[in-house]
Amino acid sequence: MRLAVACIGLVLLAACDTGTEQRDAVSSTRAVQRPYVPVPPGTIARGTAAQQAALAPPGPEVTPDLLARGEERFRAFCSPCHGLSGRGDGTVVSRGFPPPPSYHEERLRTLSPEQIVGVITHGRGRMFPYADRVPPEDRWAIAHHVKRLQAEGGVPPRQEAVSP
Ligand code: HEC
Repeated sequence: MRLAVACIGLVLLAACDTGTEQRDAVSSTRAVQRPYVPVPPGTIARGTAAQQAALAPPGPEVTPDLLARGEERFRAFCSPCHGLSGRGDGTVVSRGFPPPPSYHEERLRTLSPEQIVGVITHGRGRMFPYADRVPPEDRWAIAHHVKRLQAEGGVPPRQEAVSP
């Protein structure tokens, strides 16, 4: 009995197709005839070109508004690990997450805003990418906030972190 069911299943499966093949003969058993439409070469998903443009350096102009936005987004997305002043002492770290390096280390002080945007977009080592949660404009804003933290030398900030 089991074998018979399995055989019927196989026969039914074999009758299926993906619907994307070139079709010259019309099959009377198909209820829906979908034409084969190839994707034109060079096609990119909608929104991708705009995203790429928004990520191209030098990025948006650094204004007080951009910096304020960067600080706010940094507090929401980055400070749980990196700490409010970027010393790698966020609350998640105190609960056992591997501590990130301090932004005030020599190597990280030399990162350009563009490189920081890259870390947010692609992640780095144990750090996850934030591309799906932080839009390009905000990545630049955060990167410039990080540069400002570095320039200030890790002075403890005034407020507590906010949630995203
Ligand atoms: C869940 C914790 C966590 C969060 C949240 C987080 N990071 Fe990180 N970050 C890390 C860790 C861990 C590393 C070290 C990665 C490694 O080298 O393995 C790191 C490394 C970095 C580095 C240094 C990369 C290098 O060249 O070594 C930068 C810059 C950075 N993060 C920026 C950010 C920014 C900006 C945000 C917010 C959008 C952010 N991180 C959010 C954990 C985090």
